[in-house]
Amino acid sequence: MEKEVLSILDRRTNATYDLPLYKGTVRAMDLRRIKTAPDEFGLMSYDPAFMNTASCQSAVTFIDGDKGILRYRGYPIEQVAVQCSFLEVAYLVLFGELPTSLELNSWVDSITHHTMLHEYIKKFLEGFRLRSHPMGMFISTVSALSTLYPEARDVHDAETRKLQIYRLIGKVPTIAAYTYRHGLGFPYVYPDNDLSYTANFMNMLWKMVEPKYGANPVLARALDILFILHADHEQNCSTNVMRSVGSAQADPYVSVAAAAAALSGPLHGGANEQVLNMLDEIGSKDRVPAYVEHVKAGHGKLMGFGHRVYKNYDPRAKIIKQTADEVFKVTGTNPKLDIALELERIALEDEYFVKRKLYPNVDFYSGIIYQALGFPPEMFTVLFAIPRTVGWLAQWQEMLQDPEQKIARPRQIYTGYGPRDFVPIDKRGTKATTSVA
Ligand code: ACO
Repeated sequence: MEKEVLSILDRRTNATYDLPLYKGTVRAMDLRRIKTAPDEFGLMSYDPAFMNTASCQSAVTFIDGDKGILRYRGYPIEQVAVQCSFLEVAYLVLFGELPTSLELNSWVDSITHHTMLHEYIKKFLEGFRLRSHPMGMFISTVSALSTLYPEARDVHDAETRKLQIYRLIGKVPTIAAYTYRHGLGFPYVYPDNDLSYTANFMNMLWKMVEPKYGANPVLARALDILFILHADHEQNCSTNVMRSVGSAQADPYVSVAAAAAALSGPLHGGANEQVLNMLDEIGSKDRVPAYVEHVKAGHGKLMGFGHRVYKNYDPRAKIIKQTADEVFKVTGTNPKLDIALELERIALEDEYFVKRKLYPNVDFYSGIIYQALGFPPEMFTVLFAIPRTVGWLAQWQEMLQDPEQKIARPRQIYTGYGPRDFVPIDKRGTKATTSVA
């Protein structure tokens, strides 16, 4: 078959260029051949916020935003969410195939035996003042692990990488639970190796004086499903940070901390906390129409609505809605659910939201379930970071093994001054020249 090419006629020179196409994309480096003089830099592409730029090739996660499709390694999210445990999905996302039962047992065993935090890390956490935001504590503590495991810097050694993957996936729930207990002034609870990943997490969060914590199986399973839904989401903002920091060959602890920092933003993982604040602000179902009008008039956004990639119902939001029913059977309903359902109903009928293809995203309902499970809103983004650690690590491994990847370094279009001569301070006058002064 003839190679697919894109022919470009440069009207500045009347030269034509045949650029090879690869999977529907043109390589930005091929544009550099397009120039008006041999010593010219050549054409660049300009794409603020990566609206239309593929930064890598990835075999981890597939999304079709128009059709509302999400697949991990080819498996539809609807199937893995119902039929797998979170650690089974973590294995799939990281290693590309569903594990055999032997592989799964060994994987679960490895993760379970890396859940303990070093006592120095515990002391480090104790340094935060009470009521510190748990996400800030989480980010700092993950980063602090880097000081404990200096061998992690050997990012090109597969065995070393594997050990850090065990450690990170094993320890993030422990760190998350400690940040929660610290905020309450409660003593830390050590991991219990008899329990599943999520049941142990619940044990570290909520065990008080009982000798053995028994998680409610429906709630533990709901948390497992929520973790599955958040395991990976291809090249989102935090994953891009993970790849970018990792591309400088920084160790995985500081890279995950940087990715978690990106996740903490209200436009990304911090949105679920904002959804709850918004539902509190709305207060009751009858005030929903006025709130929607307020948003349409340009006052803020409907948090938990809209997505860069999904221009359809986020498939994760659908599964979360079903999970909410199971959770509420155990916990009793969350009154905010009625407000959320009304908000969704009105927004999905409103021309403003329809025209812009704004649908509920994963964060719209997750906060309501998290609250019903007993989490305060400030823990929500931490709950997102635990499972997403799997996706960050899968993408990090893929990036390190990709021969095409190098240190991430975008170009810019310079818009500043041309060359000008230095002005000594006594010749600069007294009038402020910048808004900083
Ligand atoms: N409420 C009201 N209007 C919205 C919303 C919203 N939630 N989201 C987008 N819009 C409007 C924008 O104002 C814009 O309108 P305009 O064309 O009249 O200017 C239009 O829809 C397109 O929006 P953009 O901001 O250009 O879309 P972008 O892809 O850049 O942003 C984002 C996506 C950041 C998710 C945005 O929809 C948003 O801020 N949503 C609320 C925050 C949120 O829920 N974030 C979680 C995302 S999921 C995740 O990270 C896990």
